[in-house]
Amino acid sequence: MTEHLNKIIEGNCVEVMKTFESSSIDLTVTSPPYDNLRTYKGYVFPFKDIAKELFRITKEGGVVVWVVADATIKGSETGTSFKQALYFKEIGFNLHDTMIFQKTNPIPQIYRKRYNNVFEYMFVFSKGTVKTDNPIKIDCLHAGLKLNGTTYKNYSKGEQKREKLAKPVKKQKIKGNIWEYVVGKKAEDQEAKGHPAPFPSALARDHINSWTNKGDVVLDPMCGSGTTCKVAYQLDREFIGIDMSSEYCELARNRIKQYQRQPTFKFE
Ligand SMILES: C[S@@+](CC[C@H](N)C(=O)[O-])C[C@H]1O[C@@H](n2cnc3c(N)ncnc32)[C@H](O)[C@@H]1O
Repeated sequence: MTEHLNKIIEGNCVEVMKTFESSSIDLTVTSPPYDNLRTYKGYVFPFKDIAKELFRITKEGGVVVWVVADATIKGSETGTSFKQALYFKEIGFNLHDTMIFQKTNPIPQIYRKRYNNVFEYMFVFSKGTVKTDNPIKIDCLHAGLKLNGTTYKNYSKGEQKREKLAKPVKKQKIKGNIWEYVVGKKAEDQEAKGHPAPFPSALARDHINSWTNKGDVVLDPMCGSGTTCKVAYQLDREFIGIDMSSEYCELARNRIKQYQRQPTFKFE
């Protein structure tokens, strides 16, 4: 496996993943082509084969984050994202969490008798129970507030009566599962401008921090401009990137090289 680490590999990800050992990847963060919305540099997208290979190469307790949205065709959303999520379940993954990537600067929509589309899905699949979970915490708005006399149901014991006395509000709590990002505006994302659909570096960072520890192996089998790989490298994880396009592979390598610590390190 070591021969693939910290490389951007050009090729069809199904064929490349077939050369990986089983149970060798801790985390995959990736975003597939959405419903032929873009042509990229001419791609083939054998979804079911990709999903099955991802299951084989993911470690027990490992995670796959699948960032996806639907096209609207003849007035209807395709529902491809949900079909894909159900297929991941069918082949053995847990649907650990259906998360939302909300855009603070969505593309303005011309009037199409529907609300402006401001989000994409981030399906979080796990192979068995998640092995690494470093939840992002946020400050509680009412930290320290004493809720004297307030009672709760004790859900952990399955009790239906409101008997448990409330403790003062904690300083921090686990963040919710709707994550908000600005798209394409930050300097760290401008680096990807040769690619038509990069996701924000912060999105990759939050998932990598959540589901891995230093030294773990992070894969993006459709890595485009290399966002996942660059962030994994910055966070001291091992990375593997794959893309069908030689142009995007080159873009990804050059992007990561800017952060290179070992001058002799090769990314191809
Ligand atoms: C939505 S883009 C990914 C963008 C990436 N997350 C980023 O931040 O730059 C999808 C990528 O998948 C690549 N692709 C499509 N089918 C592929 C396949 N079968 N194997 C490898 N790459 C593929 C395309 O070339 C494209 O760059």
